[in-house]
Amino acid sequence: MLFSKIRHIQLLGVRCRSSHYVTTPIFYVNAAPHIGHLYSAVIADAHCRYQRLRYPDTEVRLCTGTDEHGTKIQQAAAAHKVPVGQYCDEISSRYREVFEAARIEYDDFIRTTEQRHKLAVSHFWHRLQSRGHIYSAAYSGWYCVSDETFLTDSQLRLDETNETRYSLESGHPVEWTEETNYMFRLSQFQDDVRHWVKQEARIRPAKFEKILLDTLSEPLPDVSVSRPANRVHWAIPVPNDETQTVYVWLDALINYLSSLGYPNEQYLAQWPPAQQVIGKDILKFHGIYWPAFLMAAGLEPPRQLHVHSHWTVDGQKMSKSKHNVVDPVEAAKQYTMEGLRYFLLREGVAHSDGNFSHVKALRILNSELADTLGNLLSRACAKSLNPHQMYPEPHVEHLSQLLQHLDAAKRLQETLFHLAGRCEQHYEGNHFHLVADTAIAALHAANNFFECAKPWELKAGGSSPNAQRLQTIISMTMDALRLCGIVLQPMMPQLTSRLLDKLNVPISQRSWRHLSESFATASPGNGPKNHQLDEQSSARLFQRIVEQPDKPTEQRAQSQTQSKRSKSKKERKTSATMS
Ligand code: MSP
Repeated sequence: MLFSKIRHIQLLGVRCRSSHYVTTPIFYVNAAPHIGHLYSAVIADAHCRYQRLRYPDTEVRLCTGTDEHGTKIQQAAAAHKVPVGQYCDEISSRYREVFEAARIEYDDFIRTTEQRHKLAVSHFWHRLQSRGHIYSAAYSGWYCVSDETFLTDSQLRLDETNETRYSLESGHPVEWTEETNYMFRLSQFQDDVRHWVKQEARIRPAKFEKILLDTLSEPLPDVSVSRPANRVHWAIPVPNDETQTVYVWLDALINYLSSLGYPNEQYLAQWPPAQQVIGKDILKFHGIYWPAFLMAAGLEPPRQLHVHSHWTVDGQKMSKSKHNVVDPVEAAKQYTMEGLRYFLLREGVAHSDGNFSHVKALRILNSELADTLGNLLSRACAKSLNPHQMYPEPHVEHLSQLLQHLDAAKRLQETLFHLAGRCEQHYEGNHFHLVADTAIAALHAANNFFECAKPWELKAGGSSPNAQRLQTIISMTMDALRLCGIVLQPMMPQLTSRLLDKLNVPISQRSWRHLSESFATASPGNGPKNHQLDEQSSARLFQRIVEQPDKPTEQRAQSQTQSKRSKSKKERKTSATMS
């Protein structure tokens, strides 16, 4: 007993010192991943990569996974005539493949069908029950099978032509259902949840805090947390009552605990999550039910929810029936996975929906990655200007001359001087579009400097003043590329790694603190000195995407949809279960 208390205190100590636990939602396996799903994961991944870069002593942990129970999944498997377990395996591995291709650096991929999760759910249930938060009751109401939830009259729309009611929020039909359920005393947590929501920066962006507070301004009804096993049998049985299964949302939310080993107390070392990334459609579950469940179990709710909005495609909601669902694997064939990551983070803003359009993707990737970043690297590495393939050191006199007499040099210096601080501020709020804006502005300043300094008019090689000025120009340009490469690592890990490889920047010099080492801060520190570029790495970072003349844009955009997925043998097998 004493030992366990000491261990508990030790684990708390570890947590306070250095833990940063981040989660994505776990993804339903009723259909293949699309760019909306990838977006949740990319936000969480970029957030974690920034944390690791900025706070190297903190233990950052990212958990993702798949949500595999419930009627929806059962029905999807039946529709494809595949045993439900096999169906879950196939779609779950599609998620893993996409996340691996997109360099989502997760520490754990949890599946709700795993034994470790079932144990956690069972333990959590016992805890709620033993603390008096669960009771049995006859329950009747409008039930939405697709959304796995009961809805109140005010959440419904009646279609008089067919006498059917539909969920206002999701548009799915509902049916009248009467059954005996276990209920959770959500109503008792109204004030505590409201208090939790109102804490500074708990729910970001603030617009979503307001939505939650509006919901919380009405009395919260208790919520049903089980379903009759004969209706929903693909689920975790309620402990000690085989006639009932655990409500899929309670089951799913507990994944955040089971990933840490709950109920084994090692989970305390990383509990509570520092940040949970969710889409706006699952706000109520994470912003009301989840903190209430946790408080009821005597656990601390998450420190922060980062809520993001949704992607539409050419202005329309993505849906299978509209054949406009963008498959990330297909999209990456055209944009590259790094390009896709960049586009999602660069164009998406948390507070309002983003529009995925091929025209826009093409414009942004070509102008920012190919023309602004890639082209500058190629120019600085061109044999004509840089015959010895060096990342040279600046010559002090030329540096001060350039900074004094060339406005573009001064502007570049100023931009780079503020780069780390500005990007840090934007990363802290997950404002990736602003990080991209800041880095691209710095690269524009570097391109402009390069143009104005006219290095091609100076003779390369040797130690003449011209050659020294040329080396200084190349050095300043490479500093700009290096700093932007470091800053953009969380958004584009692979592309920036190729950039930093080409510049031959050692891995040990790619962290946030190395942003202070450049001509712009007049503090070269231990940063790169006069050294050779890496000849094995290419200076071509991002190839311009050329529009094929025979295909109009709209057709090309559509050719990325799942309906036109090219099929390898393995893919064919899986996609047969999915389309
Ligand atoms: N399984 C639940 C989550 C349980 S978490 C305990 C679920 N799964 S989901 O697959 O439907 O959605 C997973 C994530 O993808 C959510 O964050 C959701 O908002 C996000 N997206 C789904 N469609 C999206 C877009 N069109 N655009 C952006 N994100 C979208 O909900």
